Amino acid sequence: MTKILHIDASSMTISSSSRKLSAAIVKKLNVAAEDVTYRDLSTSNLQVITEAQIGSFFTPAADRSEDQKQVIKLSDSLVEELRANDTIVLGVPMYNFNVPASLKLYQDLVARVGETFIYTEEGPKGLLEGKKIYVAVTTGGVPIGSPADSLTPSLKTFFGFIGITDITFINADGTSVDLDKALETAYAEIEKLVA
Ligand SMILES: Cc1cc2nc3c(=O)[nH]c(=O)nc-3n(C[C@H](O)[C@H](O)[C@H](O)COP(=O)(O)O)c2cc1C
Repeated sequence: MTKILHIDASSMTISSSSRKLSAAIVKKLNVAAEDVTYRDLSTSNLQVITEAQIGSFFTPAADRSEDQKQVIKLSDSLVEELRANDTIVLGVPMYNFNVPASLKLYQDLVARVGETFIYTEEGPKGLLEGKKIYVAVTTGGVPIGSPADSLTPSLKTFFGFIGITDITFINADGTSVDLDKALETAYAEIEKLVA
């Protein structure tokens, strides 16, 4: 049974194109509502990662003090949420050529040594294997795949690093140039997805 973690990162709400597209992907995947977990990064109040949190990450779980356990509670629950779902659907607008800051804060909290990746003699190895991610990307004008697009390569690298290598991008680039066309193209791609 597929379980979906649906994440949105746009700071915009009703008018957000990436939210509309991520919702359309979830709908297309045709999973029962109770098997969808929703996380809105724009209202999750994530904070810049701290020295205390990093120190706790790099302390073996059995050796962590109560304070160290406390400061990574949110990180633990975000990692658990990723683990518990086999499909991730992410709606993400381009902000200044990359992901919104809320998504970067999220990435810093879920890239966890010993939890979502490990170091091996052959280099780092992602631990969240066997999952699939769909990413609906919106940009105002920057073409996806152009030199100014730092967003899609960085997400591919990031999710690959934690073991999620099966990644499908649904692109709606140029929403400020021609919104209808950008959305039409993306909805046509979503229509082709196999549930
Ligand atoms: C803070 C901010 C920064 C943005 N930076 C870029 C950018 O670097 N390149 C670009 O093509 N569009 C940029 N845009 C436009 C958005 O990517 C575009 O409007 C997108 O459709 C927004 O998606 P949303 O409707 O889901 O919020 C920016 C928009 C905002 C609000």
